[in-house]
Amino acid sequence: MKTYRIGVVGLGQRIAHVLAAMDEVGWNVDLCAYVDPAPVGAPILEKTRVRLGRPCADVADLLARGPYDLLMLGAPNHLHYAHLIETLDAGVPIFAEKPIVRTEQETDDLARRLARAGTPPLYVGLVMRSLPIVREVLKRVDSGELGEIVSLDATEHLPPEHGGYLARNWRRRQEWGGSYFLDKVVHDFDIFGRVAGSRPSRVASFGGRRIFTSARAERPRLYEDGSAAYALRDAGWAGANDSFQSDMDVTDHQVAMVEYENGVRLGFHANSHTALAERRWYVAGTEGTLIADLVRNKLMVRHTLHRGKPERLDFETRTADAHNGADQAMALDLLAAMEGRAPFPVTPYESMEAGLTVMAIDRAMDERAMIDCAPMWARYDAAKAGQREIA
Ligand SMILES: NC(=O)c1ccc[n+]([C@@H]2O[C@H](COP(=O)([O-])OP(=O)(O)OC[C@H]3O[C@@H](n4cnc5c(N)ncnc54)[C@H](O)[C@@H]3O)[C@@H](O)[C@H]2O)c1
Repeated sequence: MKTYRIGVVGLGQRIAHVLAAMDEVGWNVDLCAYVDPAPVGAPILEKTRVRLGRPCADVADLLARGPYDLLMLGAPNHLHYAHLIETLDAGVPIFAEKPIVRTEQETDDLARRLARAGTPPLYVGLVMRSLPIVREVLKRVDSGELGEIVSLDATEHLPPEHGGYLARNWRRRQEWGGSYFLDKVVHDFDIFGRVAGSRPSRVASFGGRRIFTSARAERPRLYEDGSAAYALRDAGWAGANDSFQSDMDVTDHQVAMVEYENGVRLGFHANSHTALAERRWYVAGTEGTLIADLVRNKLMVRHTLHRGKPERLDFETRTADAHNGADQAMALDLLAAMEGRAPFPVTPYESMEAGLTVMAIDRAMDERAMIDCAPMWARYDAAKAGQREIA
């Protein structure tokens, strides 16, 4: 098997986990060089066959030390756009973490850049696309078994330690992470758009911060068994010390409603501090209903006019990282795409459209208004067609 020469920009926990999964499924990884002032992911790689390559001062230095077979981008979200623009010109395939970029303007500018000839393949880490249970959901929707999709209802509820990490890590600040939804549930909105088979037409959202506030700083910090509830992991790059007394400016709970252009309607509820963790998609079609439980990795389907037991599928793999084997599946998908055996399960355009959907939702929340998405899609489509921005 070929050895892949890889250069990394942003060697945090995420890229280290993806490299570890690549190693696990049989890639021969030669991590030649990386750019990262303090690589948070280095300890994760110690348990793998991947050795840390040469540290580089910046992207130009990294590119000068090529050639590479693959560049991997995994810095905090506010750096994604600059890193993409700097690396796309090298003409080497790129694996970039989600959200692909952080703002509507960056999305349009990237769409315009990708329209240029000679752009290398760009694989985006919307890892849920590789998950067997998600593939099954999409298969069921595409097969027509559910009939026409009418409405969806979905959730993502996190346990306290996860919410507490978001409140201490760089994701707590809009200037770095974008928003709670953009960093955490862009995956889900990518799938919802795919299930609806359409783009959002109108969105509304309400959210705020009522959990990780200084008013609650005196609350108990331990689970009943004595383990720490809010300090399980080091907060990493630009981290804050305390989940309840940081400079967090993103929401810690939020709800959203979306009406898609084809009439499909969606309600979504997320909370970052719950006692009953849940990531669940309820898909209601004219002929059938499906519930995907992404925490327990179980799927339930039944025909609308069937009173017998629903069909239940248990995908078994449940891992502590809550990704349930998705990283390994994505590593195999990435290899298949690099070897030209199969297309990668998600395109950069789908990634940008999922990002824009979430950005419109956040704008609706900020402006306390329902957002008509048509002008946003018109700008994006013009950029995608390579048209210059109208001042
Ligand atoms: N697909 C997924 O399921 C998934 C899961 C987690 C994170 N992510 C994404 O991966 C990215 C990284 O998240 P993470 O959890 O690994 O964060 P992290 O904090 O663990 O890692 C970020 C790394 O970027 C480095 N960095 C900071 N400034 C840099 C710069 N100027 N140049 C190069 N490196 C720089 C930091 O030192 C750190 O090592 C984010 O975009 C996040 O949204 C995706």
